[in-house]
Amino acid sequence: MNNKILEIKEYAKNNHVPIIKDEGLDFLLQQISKCEIKRVLEIGCAIGYSAINMALSGPAITTIERDEKMYLEALKNIKEFNLTDKINIIYGDALEVSNQISGSYDLLFIDAAKAQYEKFFNLYTPFLKKGGIVICDNLEFHDLVKQEDLSMYKRSLRSLIKKLRLFREFLANNKDYTTTFYSIGDGMSVSVKN
Ligand SMILES: C[S@@+](CC[C@H](N)C(=O)[O-])C[C@H]1O[C@@H](n2cnc3c(N)ncnc32)[C@H](O)[C@@H]1O
Repeated sequence: MNNKILEIKEYAKNNHVPIIKDEGLDFLLQQISKCEIKRVLEIGCAIGYSAINMALSGPAITTIERDEKMYLEALKNIKEFNLTDKINIIYGDALEVSNQISGSYDLLFIDAAKAQYEKFFNLYTPFLKKGGIVICDNLEFHDLVKQEDLSMYKRSLRSLIKKLRLFREFLANNKDYTTTFYSIGDGMSVSVKN
């Protein structure tokens, strides 16, 4: 990893910005290479760590971020990497800015508010071409999704875990997609549009 990438990682650690785990990033980049991905739509940019890594591996990226501080930091990082031509960052809530998306994408990467995954999926998969893939991160959520007894956790966390379980079922039962789940990083899925 180059020094500038390590600096972004360090910033994320020091400022409690959740970014994709190393193992998850390797997996994402492998899929991009294996499936010859040219255009990526990412939901949840944070400070641009995953978007910059993906862009450096080839494809053009459109990414959405609703938090102003994260957005401004991402813009700064994207400029430092001279990737402004390759990464288009949209500032706004992904549930409200789908009208700013056009064209078709080979990969939809969902990595934003975990409770809204099904909404993101339904809003943005129309922009995915046939044969394209959807990758979701955090589907095991620190191994809590597999844990049977959640009674010791706060209600809000239990509700989030329930939503992630329902989303996994939604993916598994969706006849328009063929989904495989991986215990990689924080739990990832790959859904191929049939
Ligand atoms: C896990 S972080 C993204 C990490 C990034 N993909 C990476 O690995 O470098 C999730 C980000 O999604 C953003 N987010 C959450 N819900 C969103 C929404 N509805 N619209 C846009 N951004 C959202 C959060 O502000 C946060 O910065």
